[in-house]
Amino acid sequence: MNFTHLLIAVKDGVATLTVNRPDKLNALDDQVVAQLHQAALALRAAPEVRGVILTGAGPKAFIAGADIGDLAKQGVLDGRQRALTGQAMLRAFETMGKPVIAAVNGYALGGGCELAMACHIRIASENAKFGQPEVKLGITPGYGGTQRLPRIVGKGNALHLLLTGETIDAHEALRIGLVSKVVPQDKLLAEAEQVMKTILANGPVAVKLVIEAVHRGLEMTLEEGLELEADAFGLVAATEDMQEGLKAFLEKRAAKFRGK
Ligand code: COA
Repeated sequence: MNFTHLLIAVKDGVATLTVNRPDKLNALDDQVVAQLHQAALALRAAPEVRGVILTGAGPKAFIAGADIGDLAKQGVLDGRQRALTGQAMLRAFETMGKPVIAAVNGYALGGGCELAMACHIRIASENAKFGQPEVKLGITPGYGGTQRLPRIVGKGNALHLLLTGETIDAHEALRIGLVSKVVPQDKLLAEAEQVMKTILANGPVAVKLVIEAVHRGLEMTLEEGLELEADAFGLVAATEDMQEGLKAFLEKRAAKFRGK
């Protein structure tokens, strides 16, 4: 994989994907969006990759939003298409079938906050800042902000951020549940790697099904969601991993899962 604006390093089954446009605070121009989409599809298809950590280059920014230069040129039809194109890229991460952790190392504004929200887990460095400032530019969020933010932090907190355009720090993001951990900046990638290692030591089929059950379940009634959960529970009962996981517990040893 060779991308002009992305860096990809794979180690021990974990791909670290870095948006590499630090002079523009890693803003998502059309080229970066296209490359991220291609990278997500390639990482999904790569059997040696079991999980992905997404971060931004440089000490200041995860991603400071969609590229405002690109937005300034758009009309009604290409504006709508830009939103759909960006949404599809985010969805490729969300539905990758492998855990994706956003290691948010600085500004995560607009499309940056939206991309972090499409990841399954968000871990922030102490200098991280989050916000959906679109209304300040006279636009609405286009990469899922109005939809994922209320699902993650609740309607009240989401409307507060979406309507004021306010930027919040990492500790406030932790308080409202937008991120699950805050760590010093120099420990961020190590922490994300540790969390990923913990996830990857678990049953791979179970991990995949949990991600699916949570995402699909949130769009269902409780009754339907419980049915979905029961289906997943039945499905894992047919796996070798379940036999191994239960046996390992009874034999007081670590399980060796094979994803089957
Ligand atoms: N799109 C395009 N370029 C961006 C950008 C964006 N979303 N965010 C930052 N940049 C560029 C700046 O234009 C500047 O480029 P230049 O050096 O060629 O002038 C460079 O990145 C550095 O940004 P700068 O504004 O000088 O850094 P700062 O530390 O003073 O401020 C921010 C940081 C994040 C507060 C500020 O850049 C900002 O408000 N960015 C826009 C955030 C936003 O509204 N995002 C949502 C878009 S929908």
